[in-house]
Amino acid sequence: MYRAAITGTGVFTPSEVITNAELVTAFNAYADKYNAAHAGQIAAGDLPAKAHSSVDFIVAASGIEQRHVIDKTGVLDPDRMYPHLRARTDEEPSLMAEIGVDAINTALAQAGISADQVDLVICAASNIERAYPAVAVEIQQLIGAGGFAFDMNVACSSATFGIQTAADMIRTGSVRTAVVVNPEITSAHLEWRDRDCHFIFGDVATATVLQRSEDAKGEHFIIRSTRCATVFSNNIRNNAGFMRMARDQMEDRRDMQFIQNGRKVFKEVLPLVSQHMADHMADEGITADDLKRLWLHQANKAMNDYIGKKVLGREPAPGEQPNILQDYANTSSAGSIIAFAQNSDDLKPGDLGIICSFGAGYSVGSVVVEKA
Ligand code: COA
Repeated sequence: MYRAAITGTGVFTPSEVITNAELVTAFNAYADKYNAAHAGQIAAGDLPAKAHSSVDFIVAASGIEQRHVIDKTGVLDPDRMYPHLRARTDEEPSLMAEIGVDAINTALAQAGISADQVDLVICAASNIERAYPAVAVEIQQLIGAGGFAFDMNVACSSATFGIQTAADMIRTGSVRTAVVVNPEITSAHLEWRDRDCHFIFGDVATATVLQRSEDAKGEHFIIRSTRCATVFSNNIRNNAGFMRMARDQMEDRRDMQFIQNGRKVFKEVLPLVSQHMADHMADEGITADDLKRLWLHQANKAMNDYIGKKVLGREPAPGEQPNILQDYANTSSAGSIIAFAQNSDDLKPGDLGIICSFGAGYSVGSVVVEKA
């Protein structure tokens, strides 16, 4: 068995930013128009009026201050409320492939290797923009990698599940160098017309290079162990899919976008994740005092504060559990990797940390890493 290591990470951040104030102004304009257009039904009690959103609520409930998106004009247009993402021909790179390749190039440069050394590409994301061919295979071709590639979807946990999959293949020797890429175009499956969730997501792509530790050229993190778990829940769900036409469900349906029972998610996922991390640490023989950093999934500040406190048994010190969600919002599977990519350079050889992501499924994945 070989040892697997993370030798590079990359983050592609879209240039367009939507602040909470911009988001709320657009949503409230949309709500006013909707209420005016449906005034009769609302007055008759046949339809609930749409209530306004509020910046103060968003910050207090989530900690999110802004989000990056591929296109803000469509999202902020009260007559549209969805991004404009140009339809591409089959001969053009798909959008997920394009932003994924950008993140991969940064990650490969950090690892000091070229793409032709890669023999596994996993595209792990919460939505894949088409059924087939796999976006991962397109990315493999665009970067000039060898070997094989496939897509996988474990919602917000896709990155850690992808890392476990790649690390296991490296350990056994079936691949030598892998890239796990997480292009998250969450703006296309968020329901921007629902104030309960319209502030939650942002777009981004992350990439992680994994190699045999003996191949690492520069600073790297040994993957000490990984652990994944799933428990079925309907509390975060998206019913869009290939059965839609056959089921005569082509109309504008709320359940074809992201939908969640946020309160239940909050209540049920916290104990699941805290226990998962505690069990993983116990099996690995490490205690809270051994940990230098937690790079958690970036959905909600209060959730991360709770998990950090539970896992460490005390309030996390500043920087011990870095949040990026105030700038990026929830970027689904990419969140914990952004936190890791932007907050791991200062660790010293022997320092330990845990990357942990969690979300729909429910699913939770943790990766114990040690700075080499
Ligand atoms: N502006 C103003 N008020 C709002 C609002 C908005 N944008 N959205 C909801 N509200 C209202 C609600 O209607 C509710 O009003 P009510 O008490 O009269 O019914 C009130 O604010 C509280 O709403 P609630 O949804 O209970 O808020 P919350 O404190 O639970 O926060 C979430 C909402 C989504 C931020 C929170 O539940 C959460 O983060 N959950 C976990 C989400 C998660 O991690 N999901 C994973 C996604 S992959």
